[in-house]
Amino acid sequence: MEGSMVTRGKDFSPRLEALKGWYHSFELPDGTRFDGHDSLDHLRARYARFPVPADLTGRTVLDIGAWDGWFTFEAERRGARVTAVDCVEIENFLVLRERLASQADYRILDFYDLPQAGLAPFDYTFFLGVLYHLKHPLLALEIVCALTKETAIVDSYVIDVEADSADAARIPWMEFYELNELGNQLDNWCGPTLACLEAMCRAAGFARVERLGPIDHGHAALACHRRWEPVPAEPASAPPEMIAVAHARNYGVNFRSRGDEYVDCWFNAPASRTVVRPELRMEIGGYGVPALHVKEETLGRWMANFRLPPGLAAGWQDARLRLRDSDFSRAARLCVDTPPTTSGLTLRAVFDGHSWEESRLRCGGIASFWILGLSGNCDRNNVRVWLNGRRQSVDYVGAPEADHYRQINAMVRADQPLGNCEFAVEYAGVRTSPLHVTVSE
Ligand SMILES: C[S@@+](CC[C@H](N)C(=O)[O-])C[C@H]1O[C@@H](n2cnc3c(N)ncnc32)[C@H](O)[C@@H]1O
Repeated sequence: MEGSMVTRGKDFSPRLEALKGWYHSFELPDGTRFDGHDSLDHLRARYARFPVPADLTGRTVLDIGAWDGWFTFEAERRGARVTAVDCVEIENFLVLRERLASQADYRILDFYDLPQAGLAPFDYTFFLGVLYHLKHPLLALEIVCALTKETAIVDSYVIDVEADSADAARIPWMEFYELNELGNQLDNWCGPTLACLEAMCRAAGFARVERLGPIDHGHAALACHRRWEPVPAEPASAPPEMIAVAHARNYGVNFRSRGDEYVDCWFNAPASRTVVRPELRMEIGGYGVPALHVKEETLGRWMANFRLPPGLAAGWQDARLRLRDSDFSRAARLCVDTPPTTSGLTLRAVFDGHSWEESRLRCGGIASFWILGLSGNCDRNNVRVWLNGRRQSVDYVGAPEADHYRQINAMVRADQPLGNCEFAVEYAGVRTSPLHVTVSE
């Protein structure tokens, strides 16, 4: 069946036409009024719920889907430097911008072009009434998260009032509108339940999601915070003891900020404590991120995983962990968007990792060697080990020792041909001179 016979919401386009296209209402300093679909009282009430400082001097705001620009001009009136984005140039926005002598940076961009628009992240992002116009809502929230340093206000149509069973007991869900099912508009794509909207905001990478009042005219507003609440003034428990963090898929240290990447974290907690997921507060590169899963591996030693927070800058980033009632652990580090580099490699001897015989390796055994010249972010995924041109898998990369050499262990393949062969290591596009080794059973 094509489309759906069931419809949602009201078609407000005739009303908008009657209002000569004014969606927002305005009252200018000289007393001029423009009456739009959204009344001034309602716009003010919407803004009053936002947990942003009353004085925004020195702060930056991104207003996505600004339409006539009421929220842009209000944030600017409060001192913010505002960038307003819309996919169509709105004549009313230009009129208001001139009448208010606004300095707002007005950009005509499709939402999905935002990551490539060269915009530095903003203190606050207003993402109001846009989500359900987008075909890729979770991707959209990730883009919003990456562009936000403090808090994004996410306001969206939700189906709780109209759907029969948007009850808290069900797994959160979202309706999809192939055609004009919602409000008779072709550019409405999805209607989440409020619980689904909140879950998507957390899954997109926000640390904390706060409801801003009840559902209003079918819309819910959320404050999506990138940072955890402050550490308690008097923490009731000791911080977790950080052991290590690693890429959840490949156990390396390197991450891509534009990928859908996850971080495993191992930590110790007092043996008497049962750690539960909602009390974990990971912070990476200064951004909080909620835990997805936690389990106790051995008594007092835990493993939890987290989404890599969107929008991290390239380079080394600190990852530290706390509990709701504790301070932060020491930091472990991970590396973002940084290719491996070398200015030359020096391969010292290679040994059998069991007998420690030099230049003698065993099929199915371990080749253990020391090498100089690897950049700090070398890991088991970017070091390549070759035996007569056959790739061997790297299992362990040690920390630099006093002489700056690092120990690396590779697994010798069980089917490696026996006899004399050449052992070489490749890193950042550079290959070492080969060492001559003998492979035996
Ligand atoms: C319902 S209005 C919301 C206006 C205002 N933000 C508010 O909440 O009062 C949706 C706005 O999003 C814009 N919009 C819709 N799809 C967009 C896209 N793909 N990229 C950028 N803007 C988009 C529309 O042009 C319109 O200005």
